[in-house]
Amino acid sequence: MRTKLFIHKKNHQIAITEAAALLKAGEVVAFPTETVYGLGADATNERAVSKIFKAKGRPGDNPLIVHVACKQQLFELVQTYPAYVEKLIAAFSPGPITYVLPSNGRVAANVTAGLPTVGVRIPDHKAALALLEMCGLPLAAPSANVSGKPSPTTAKHVLDDLDGKIAAVLDGGAAYVGVESTVVDCTRDVPVILRVGQIKKEAIQQVVGSVEVACAAYTTTPKSPGVKYKHYMPEVPLYLVMDQAKMNSIIDCEKRNGKKIGILFTGENQPFDNVDKTFYLGDDEREIAANLYDTLRQMKKRDVDIVFAIIDSPKKIGSAVMDRLGRAATNVIN
Ligand code: TXA
Ligand code: MG
Repeated sequence: MRTKLFIHKKNHQIAITEAAALLKAGEVVAFPTETVYGLGADATNERAVSKIFKAKGRPGDNPLIVHVACKQQLFELVQTYPAYVEKLIAAFSPGPITYVLPSNGRVAANVTAGLPTVGVRIPDHKAALALLEMCGLPLAAPSANVSGKPSPTTAKHVLDDLDGKIAAVLDGGAAYVGVESTVVDCTRDVPVILRVGQIKKEAIQQVVGSVEVACAAYTTTPKSPGVKYKHYMPEVPLYLVMDQAKMNSIIDCEKRNGKKIGILFTGENQPFDNVDKTFYLGDDEREIAANLYDTLRQMKKRDVDIVFAIIDSPKKIGSAVMDRLGRAATNVIN
């Protein structure tokens, strides 16, 4: 299959029209959102949705997030919802937040991986909203990467993973948030955060009073199935170093083993001069999130054998990026 590339610049209508036509015909099209690029298909068409799982190599028990253009379209997919959902939507949507609600069965069974619930969000991105409006369909869309790899934040990342496997990519520039949406279980009296993102617990708490965070450590069947799979893995092993004082002896030891060493660091860290490559994430939480996946994708076997991420201030790095780094990492050095 030849993957078409549509460029969305200044509301380019032709790009949107052609991408929408492919989606309506049951094809898979990658599109930009504010968080990461999504791999979209008509959420009501089981065959179209199965093409997403095939292209990504995604396990069938991991449900997909459905993207809609507006609040009304969101409510068309669910049975009931608690009153606090209206408040959350008013405060945060369009934006990087996904609501898990009881499905009314309008989306295809493979979208929800057989769960009675569906995850829905309204993305805050011009091209995504234009595409959703033009095709008039709810679009199921996981991140547009091959399963297990870092999520894509540019059209180039998507093509690096999926060129030849999908009908088209809509290029709308770099995704500016850089980490996936906050996923909130809204099936209970109190909302429960299943995946952390840019919209924080504190912000949700301010709007609805109380909120809980799911403890993955205590559940044997994860409520959000995707959380149990390995994610975001760079080409080379990544170690998180929580105690910077150990860094010099770690570098010395690995050098003796003949390893080429990379260091991942943020603004406050001093990059080491005796390493083979340094990867700079940024200086504040938003910049760090926006650069994360591109930086993980830059870690190539030809340059380094192992990368150490220096974590001197988890608070500054932020909970969403700490969560993703924790899952991208092979090991944590305390
Ligand atoms: O920002 C985002 O959310 C991006 C963009 C493309 O919208 N999408 C994304 O999709 O990150 P994906 O498939 O990579 O991650 C979806 C997460 C998974 O952890 C999945 O298990 C969870 O959301 N999820 C989806 N539907 C769910 C449901 N009904 N109940 C619980 N968790 C659900
Ligand atoms: Mg993903």
